[in-house]
Formats: sequence, C-alpha cells, structure tokens
Amino acid sequence: MNKIIVSPSILSADFSNLGADIKKVEPYCPWIHIDVMDGHFVPNITIGVPVVKSIRNITNLFLDTHLMIENPLKYIDAFSSAGSNLITFHYEAALNKTEETIDRIRQNNKKAGLSIKPDTPVEEIEQYINKVDLILIMTVEPGFGGQTFKEDQVEKIKKVKSLSDSNLIIQVDGGINQKTAKICTEQGANCLVAGSYIYNSTNIKQAIESLI
Ligand code: DX5
Ligand code: ZN
Repeated sequence: MNKIIVSPSILSADFSNLGADIKKVEPYCPWIHIDVMDGHFVPNITIGVPVVKSIRNITNLFLDTHLMIENPLKYIDAFSSAGSNLITFHYEAALNKTEETIDRIRQNNKKAGLSIKPDTPVEEIEQYINKVDLILIMTVEPGFGGQTFKEDQVEKIKKVKSLSDSNLIIQVDGGINQKTAKICTEQGANCLVAGSYIYNSTNIKQAIESLI
C-alpha cells in the first residue's frame, strides 16, 4: 500500500507568523500546501510568487503549490523559479491549454498536478490522468478554508484510481479531518490537504498523525 502524504495548508496559518507556523508542522510531514488565489478564478485573494520565494528560503519541505488562478500557464515559470516543487492548476482555468500547461511545468522540471472543482466530472480530465503526477479532487468549492467536506465527491476518487497507474498521487483538499480523511483514503486517496483541522488544533503533531 502506498504511503499517505499529509500536506498542511498554510491558508489556515497566521500570516503574520508564517515562518513559525511552517516550522510547527515541519517535523511531522514532508509537504506544505500553498493556496494561491487571484480573486478571479475564485472569490478570494491570498498570496503569490514572492511569498513562495520567501517560504523556499526557510524550509526544505516539498512545496505543493495549488494555483486557483485564471491563465495558470502565464505563471508556471515564475512559480517554478520561486521554488515550487509541485504545481497544481485547475482544469477549469486552463481551458484549452491544459496540455500546454502540463508541458510547461515539465519543462521547468517540476511535478505537475491537475485539479477539478466539485462540479467538474472526472470524465473531462480522463485523457490527462496519466500525463500528470497528481490529480487533486476538490472536496469543497475552492476559495476558502474551513468549509464542510462534500461527501458526493468521494466517488471521483474511486474513478480516478480505476483510471490511473500506481504512481499517480490522488490528493483531496477541503474539509479534511480525522473522519473525512479515512473516507478518502479508503477509496484510494494518498495525499491529504488539511488546513483548519491542523492549524486550529491544540496539538499539531496529534492532529497530523490522526489523519494517517
Ligand atoms: C480551499 C483551499 C484549501 C483550504 C483547505 O480552496 O484549496 O487548501 O486551505 O482548508 P480546510 O482544510 O480548512 O478545508
Ligand atoms: Zn488548496
């Protein structure tokens, strides 16, 4: 069985103490999840390239960068130079440039991830599943932390799993806690993003360990 990766989302961290909040999770997981939002693709604005660059300077964690932005192709080089290890973009935002965007990530020698929102069926991305390193199934509408897990997304995990080869990372993001993590891993998810569950907990180590 594949090992499960926990990727804490810094969206729920204290941005005035970001470095310290990253250090809090560093001993317990190999990845950190960075949510980039542009106020167009999603109704929220978060952080961009300079912040990724600063994070790169303070940690060796694998930087899992989740782009919730329009025209992701335009920004692949910048996030790559800033130090992202994985760049995940949204199929709905890339429109007819999905293949080109994946290629651009590869040209930068980064891992490529493709994400779909809750209303997008797996069938729409079927042809790309084995061309990327990771598929991200959103289990909330992207834009904000602290939302409730959408259970109706779980069958998509199973579907992706049945269409993929064994090396694919199947990531879920949104409303992940001890209970929903189990529902997802039982169906084949092997990478769990969790923001509020980890950062709002009084014992971060225990919270992370409770997910796997
Ligand atoms: C939502 C973001 C998530 C968010 C998850 O659009 O992509 O990464 O931080 O937050 P929780 O775990 O609180 O649902
Ligand atoms: Zn995310």
